[in-house]
Amino acid sequence: MLKGKHIILSVTGSIAAYKAAVLLRLLIKNGAEVQVLMTALGKQFISPLTLATLSKKPILVEFFNPENGQWNSHVDLGKWANLMLVAPATANTIAKMANGIADNLVLTTYLSATCPVFIAPAMDLDMYKHSATQKNIEILKSFGNFFIEPAEGELASGLIGKGRMAEPEEILQVLTQFFQTSTELKGKTFLVTAGPTIEKIDAVRFISNHSSGKMGYSVAEELANRGARVILVSGQTNLSLKNSNIDRINVLSAAEMLEKCATIFPNVDGAIMSAAVADYTIENPSEKKIKHSQQHLTLTLVPTADIACELGKMKTEKQLLVGFALETDNEIENAFSKLKKKNFDAIILNSLNDKGAGFQFDTNKISIIDKNHSLEHFELKPKTEVAKDIVNKIVKML
Ligand code: CTP
Repeated sequence: MLKGKHIILSVTGSIAAYKAAVLLRLLIKNGAEVQVLMTALGKQFISPLTLATLSKKPILVEFFNPENGQWNSHVDLGKWANLMLVAPATANTIAKMANGIADNLVLTTYLSATCPVFIAPAMDLDMYKHSATQKNIEILKSFGNFFIEPAEGELASGLIGKGRMAEPEEILQVLTQFFQTSTELKGKTFLVTAGPTIEKIDAVRFISNHSSGKMGYSVAEELANRGARVILVSGQTNLSLKNSNIDRINVLSAAEMLEKCATIFPNVDGAIMSAAVADYTIENPSEKKIKHSQQHLTLTLVPTADIACELGKMKTEKQLLVGFALETDNEIENAFSKLKKKNFDAIILNSLNDKGAGFQFDTNKISIIDKNHSLEHFELKPKTEVAKDIVNKIVKML
């Protein structure tokens, strides 16, 4: 899967450096040619001999070989690489990368590299959470570098939290996915909404729905796999994303989702509205916890804004707007009237009468109706496959 790819693996000074041997082996097994760079501290955590033996290349640490003066050209390395991976990346290296510091070979190569750069942080939970580290990560993201998020778990310090370097298998998956990404939608940007919204009753309670977000996340992944940039505005879900071309913006309420979507929509080529947005919100949510009492409690609900409708009003001729309709009766008729009301170009219909379709399932059964009255029915299939049918339709409509 990585056949013919030139990868620079930069190992910096973290205990997670021990995972670099497995990672290196996986990259090579999958066909990549790997040049390992190490920082001086990285060398203390794992022997260069191990990595040199696995990569069948000398490990590079210094700017030049002190014995014979041979120059380890960071410029040539930067040109050679199809991808640079910094794993593990310490808080120190991340900070230096974000600030253009160039005091070792990993950093000079980073500054010379014109290829995509992936960074897999590894550090203690408080170091990772610290505003300085988070700011540096944001800076690097704004340079277009990709982060492979650390996992939660037991850390070398004995503390438990987020900071463990992603497992080598996960890093391999991210890289193979990156290289597999097709170019069909390259240059296009899509907004996708997904998951449920949460409407606050008081400090601890809320109204929501059973949406898992799986359908919207699958559509976001499929768009990104075909080369699009995706901005995913997501309600609260337990899902994670594989494709690094997806920017996730987390929101809670319908009002928050509307605010984000209205700002993003003018700058995208299309939007796919798969979120299960609450139709009503609490008129006066309480800041404090409402105390238990034997009295009846009446909540006054007021309608939320219809986000899809608002985007439908803003839509230009060049933009696409695709919605979903979850129906229980008169499915096609209701879906078509929603398509017209919200100014959608196409609507994806799910019926709760179909077994295995709708909320919480990993499968879905859809029909797609477009504004030219074309109607296509699809079989029950995994949501990842359903997403392909939806994106095929989007590609045709663009
Ligand atoms: N939608 C939205 N904002 C809302 C309600 C719905 O953006 N406040 C979007 C959904 O994401 C979906 C489409 O509109 O793409 C239709 O949602 P659905 O819940 O099926 O329809 P509603 O308009 O809420 O109508 P009803 O609940 O009466 O069926």
